[in-house]
Amino acid sequence: MLVEEAIRTRASIKVFSEEPVAQSLVVGLLDAAVWAPNHHLTEPWHFSVVSGTERESLARIVRSEMLMAASGLDVAIMQAKALKERQKLLSAPVIVAIYSDAGNDERTTRENFAASAAAAQNILLMAHSNGLAGIWRTSAIYELPGVRAALRVRPGSVFVGALCLGYPMQRSVRRRRTPAVEKTYWFKSEDLEQPLVDLVDMPVGGK
Ligand SMILES: Cc1cc2nc3c(=O)[nH]c(=O)nc-3n(C[C@H](O)[C@H](O)[C@H](O)COP(=O)(O)O)c2cc1C
Repeated sequence: MLVEEAIRTRASIKVFSEEPVAQSLVVGLLDAAVWAPNHHLTEPWHFSVVSGTERESLARIVRSEMLMAASGLDVAIMQAKALKERQKLLSAPVIVAIYSDAGNDERTTRENFAASAAAAQNILLMAHSNGLAGIWRTSAIYELPGVRAALRVRPGSVFVGALCLGYPMQRSVRRRRTPAVEKTYWFKSEDLEQPLVDLVDMPVGGK
């Protein structure tokens, strides 16, 4: 599949078949992820892979962490939430959780996060071009201390996303996008000769 086709036809999918994903295929996705651009070659991304029966173990950790945090809150509500998270965890054969190194300053941390997000998109596109599908999730469970510890996440690193991957069991839906032209301003040097106007009045799009 050409890159352009992969970009234009990828769509988030939440329903997967139970068919396991070969480890070699997952390794291929991760190998593609690390070719994302990254400033000063910080290579800030770290991946934690959860698959097969290990998903149930992670769900148990999530449950006990959520119940621990439930002090004072309705335990029944937390139990229901934990159950929902378990269903999400078990719904995809493979989950790749991505964490990004913190930098020595806020700017580097932001750049690292951007690079790790690019790595995530590499994974989604590679997965799609290999017949897999996926969804990028940002559930708070991946920030729980017990989950971070279980996934061997480095202290201080920032959660980027959990990519839930598998073979699709759902029709792909192409979601709405605003045409890029409506999000684009083409700079013209003659604009500098005009007085500055409020940005809301600025024309957008077109050359
Ligand atoms: C940073 C980020 C976080 C997301 N978190 C969630 C999430 O927690 N749950 C979810 O259902 N989808 C999540 N998504 C998927 C978006 O909802 C999805 O990309 C969007 O609806 C556009 O659909 P498409 O990916 O099919 O183009 C997330 C996407 C991104 C980029």
